[in-house]
Amino acid sequence: MTRPNTMKALEKSEPREGLWMVQAPVPEIGPDDVLIRVNKTGICGTDIHIWNWDEWAAHTVPVPLITGHEFAGEIVELGRDVTGLEIGQRVSGEGHLIGTESRQSRAGKFHLDPGTRGIGVNEQGAFAQYLRLPAFNVVPLPDDIPDEIGAILDPLGNAVHTALSFDLLGEDVLITGAGPIGIMAAAVARHAGARNVVITDINPDRLKLAEHVVPTVRTVDVAREDLQDVIAELKMKQGFDVGLEMSGSQAALDQMVEALVMGGKIALLGIPPGKSPVDWSRIVFKAITIKGVYGREMFETWYKMIAMLQNGLDVSRVITHQFGVDEFRDGFLAMKSGTSGKVVLNWR
Ligand SMILES: NC(=O)c1ccc[n+]([C@@H]2O[C@H](COP(=O)([O-])OP(=O)(O)OC[C@H]3O[C@@H](n4cnc5c(N)ncnc54)[C@H](O)[C@@H]3O)[C@@H](O)[C@H]2O)c1
Ligand SMILES: [Zn+2]
Repeated sequence: MTRPNTMKALEKSEPREGLWMVQAPVPEIGPDDVLIRVNKTGICGTDIHIWNWDEWAAHTVPVPLITGHEFAGEIVELGRDVTGLEIGQRVSGEGHLIGTESRQSRAGKFHLDPGTRGIGVNEQGAFAQYLRLPAFNVVPLPDDIPDEIGAILDPLGNAVHTALSFDLLGEDVLITGAGPIGIMAAAVARHAGARNVVITDINPDRLKLAEHVVPTVRTVDVAREDLQDVIAELKMKQGFDVGLEMSGSQAALDQMVEALVMGGKIALLGIPPGKSPVDWSRIVFKAITIKGVYGREMFETWYKMIAMLQNGLDVSRVITHQFGVDEFRDGFLAMKSGTSGKVVLNWR
């Protein structure tokens, strides 16, 4: 391609609230990298933290930095040593950059590498017309997966990684938090053959969206309805077999522990704002297994997620807004409203 020198990019240019559209140099790629022309990106809760410049962001994100980590695009340049990928190929990719020296990586558990660095958080990100990515991180998009779905594979991957942490076939599953990820997890739990899938929230708009995306899910507004009544209504004998915590709320985790069967299992994706008190003796006496979930398994989550998308998993309605990138402020406003699903920005 005739390579432009500069590109539009959404940057954290100063250590204060906001993001700024700047002209940035198009990244130079190394021998093992590819250059991706970005078509669509998803806005993540993480990007809102970075926009707001809260304590976490101020401690984590270097300035200046191009933000964003959820993307789909096409390959326009291949590094000298890259094999197995092609110019023009439609791709998404894993935004966690890992090393290969740690014990975990050498055991093939790349997602557990303690040296993991995130694009758009620690390294230059995807809110730009071009993105440099190690070829290792690239995930080709099949023709039947459109770019807007490609742009939300990162959070769908969080949902898939969490939901597939435990066997769901025939199980009763409780999901706390009907944000975009909780809603997608409900769709995955259905696809994976769960019996009852119940999702809670305290925001009625989010529960409405959950019903819109996954019509067979039972939504519960825990501000108005008691989970124990729902357990009785669904004729479950003891409670839920598996819990997927996707709100980061301590109240939700407490409710989940109470609503689980003896020997139940919990996968925790939600990130509490700080330390949060837990009634450990309840967890011990109920013999509950708890697993923390970070990111996506490289690359088993990507494999399963694409296979499910090609075999009937439909999360398209979780995308509630699409904006041209020049209207990025409207996109962030929609996200900040707390009522949106996924918000996608178009870069072309
Ligand atoms: N571990 C990871 O790798 C990882 C990756 C991405 C996101 N996350 C976290 O996963 C969570 C879900 O992400 P998201 O983008 O869908 O977030 P989100 O903030 O859009 O959704 C969280 C939902 O939880 C709801 N909620 C609040 N209190 C509740 C309660 N008591 N009971 C039930 N629901 C309640 C909120 O109303 C909101 O709708 C967040 O905590 C996010 O920080 C973790
Ligand atoms: Zn994200």
